[in-house]
Amino acid sequence: MWIFRTKPVEDSIKDTDEPEYRLRRSLTAVDLAAFGIGVIVGTGIFVLTGQQAAINAGPAIVLSFVIAGVVCALAAMCYAEFASTVPVAGSAYTFSYATLGEFVAWIIGWDLCLELALGAAVVSRGWSAYLQQLLDLPGWLAGDKALPDWGAIFIVLALGVVMIVGMKMSSRLTNVLVGVKLAVIFFVIGLGIFFIKTSNYSPFIPPAQPAPKASGGNAPLLQVLAGVTPQHFGWFGVLAAAAIVFFAYIGFDIVATAAEETKNPQRDMPRGILASLAICALLYVAVSAVVTGMTKYTNLNTGAPLAKAFNDVGQGWAAKLIALGAISGITSVILVMMLGQTRVFFAMSRDGLLPPAIAKVHPRFGTPWVVTILTCVVVAALAGFIPLSELSELTSIGTLFAFVVVSIGVVILRRTRPDLPRTFRAPGVPWLPVASVAASVWLMLNLPVETWIRFVVWMAVGLAVYFLYGARHSRLRRAGQRAPEEPVAPTSA
Ligand code: ALA
Repeated sequence: MWIFRTKPVEDSIKDTDEPEYRLRRSLTAVDLAAFGIGVIVGTGIFVLTGQQAAINAGPAIVLSFVIAGVVCALAAMCYAEFASTVPVAGSAYTFSYATLGEFVAWIIGWDLCLELALGAAVVSRGWSAYLQQLLDLPGWLAGDKALPDWGAIFIVLALGVVMIVGMKMSSRLTNVLVGVKLAVIFFVIGLGIFFIKTSNYSPFIPPAQPAPKASGGNAPLLQVLAGVTPQHFGWFGVLAAAAIVFFAYIGFDIVATAAEETKNPQRDMPRGILASLAICALLYVAVSAVVTGMTKYTNLNTGAPLAKAFNDVGQGWAAKLIALGAISGITSVILVMMLGQTRVFFAMSRDGLLPPAIAKVHPRFGTPWVVTILTCVVVAALAGFIPLSELSELTSIGTLFAFVVVSIGVVILRRTRPDLPRTFRAPGVPWLPVASVAASVWLMLNLPVETWIRFVVWMAVGLAVYFLYGARHSRLRRAGQRAPEEPVAPTSA
């Protein structure tokens, strides 16, 4: 069963030292935390908070954020252990190759497209909504109702040019964008708190209502399996919203893709991952509490709900400021997600699972320009033509699936390679990873049936591509087929 052969951790680490693949190690724990916040804080908090409060949870959206945060904390422990043990670009893809074998690694690499490429598309739609709000652009040009959404297409392509020409996003730029983002979030909390009306919190968990017929296909899988009539609000609504606002936390795991560029990944990766998640969780709970206190949750079903809350309390000037901050802050999310996607593709082509030609580096700019153009064109097409909410749910299911596999991988690697140095050990193994798997699956079950169908279709396409291409060209497989005089490192169990 060669498709289940694993790639030894030592080989993955050795690949990073090949001169043509060597990345400069310059990041510290603080850089990683900034990088994490740069990727995490984006459309989730600026867009989905209000929509989910209005549709599913009411003011109890705060609880949805707490629930999603706990699920992420469990997974973050597993990512922290892995990233400190296998500090190689590719994140969940590389971890899976080391523990569950090539086939699962492929599945995860394919699955990560949902998190990274599709995630970038979703985020750029949020960017466009805020741009429209800020500049009062016509609805056909940018924002929620634009089809195609020219604003989203523009930002993706513009960042694509930046990625090709000036590939390395300087840490100074990231820090500036994170600074703007955090300033806006603190502003929302600091000013918004004065406009809270406690009456807006009542009812805190609005009573469950049957979902409108039109959205019946959007019922969470769990509700369908449990045989309950699809409903909004109530506890089921809070859980459904948790599964969807989970999207706002996506990104702490993307920090792991920077392992190869970190000075002391063994020490700093766990710190960067856990610190960025903890800071964002606190901010999210505070923001959602403030926003649902400022205006009735029913008013928040818009593409730019934080700005809407300030409009509703007669502070239109603040709305403009929020839009400006959101736009600059969300820009870094799009950029880093697309960069993350190119790195995963890069790692997959390094292993021969994708054509090596797509990892071609531009002779002058030194950037992987082919894969960058491909990624940008696909992201721009998705962002331009598909509604935001459907995209974000597919991104969430893809990310949760990666969490499941990484959590299982931690337990496996502890058994198969107890000898590896681990500077960070997730507490309570195997119980913590088991809880992480259960929690992630639980959130997945709370995603809509339609999302599941799309997910299954996407993964089926991935299987076909693997057997038609990846399985035949795998470097690990070809190395295994070489004559004995061409020694290769043994594969681990
Ligand atoms: N967490 C990122 C966002 O909310 C994906 O935009």
